[in-house]
Amino acid sequence: MIEELLAHNKEWAAQRVLEDPNYFKRLKDLQSPRYLWIGCSDSRVPANVITGLQPGEVFVHRNVANVLHPGDLNGLSVLQYAVEVLRVEHIIVCGHYGCGGVVAAADGLRHGLIDHWLRPIMDLHERFEPDLAKLPDARARLDRLCELNVEQTVMRVTQTPVVEDAWLAGRMLAVHGWVYGLEDGIIRSLGPSITGTTGAAEQREKLGG
Ligand code: CO
Repeated sequence: MIEELLAHNKEWAAQRVLEDPNYFKRLKDLQSPRYLWIGCSDSRVPANVITGLQPGEVFVHRNVANVLHPGDLNGLSVLQYAVEVLRVEHIIVCGHYGCGGVVAAADGLRHGLIDHWLRPIMDLHERFEPDLAKLPDARARLDRLCELNVEQTVMRVTQTPVVEDAWLAGRMLAVHGWVYGLEDGIIRSLGPSITGTTGAAEQREKLGG
């Protein structure tokens, strides 16, 4: 019931103050997260919960299948605010295996408007078809496509003027590609983090994008 959510909220707020009388005062006065999380909207992948981060510790942007379109005003505004104002040091792109958006991008069916949103994943699917075809089964191919999608979003993040300018200014800013497993709750890192334009160029070469 919807009323239960409000009741739970009251209990939660009371508990916080009980543990630390200054809890909300501190949060109200200061937002200084070190992390920007770009993840999937999937209800099973809540950024704070699976990383053990408290309110105030991670700035979060989520959409279907953790995509970043070149003209995505919402995602790019979040990125700019996080990097230039909050001055986060880490950008985490976290996808997940079993992602419904990735499945929809690969199943060849029509789903309406969402197909436009998922276009970057469909393009990846086509581009990597020869590699994916070598994998043993459909599950392995979808898992790999989930990973490729994270790598592509990492690449898109590193190609933005916001991130390029931060690196040109000599700032410490690392971009990480992660995939979360719904079955075991474990996050896997997809290779080295990208901390500058050289790493970004290598990522671009790898994905051919
Ligand atoms: Co998903």
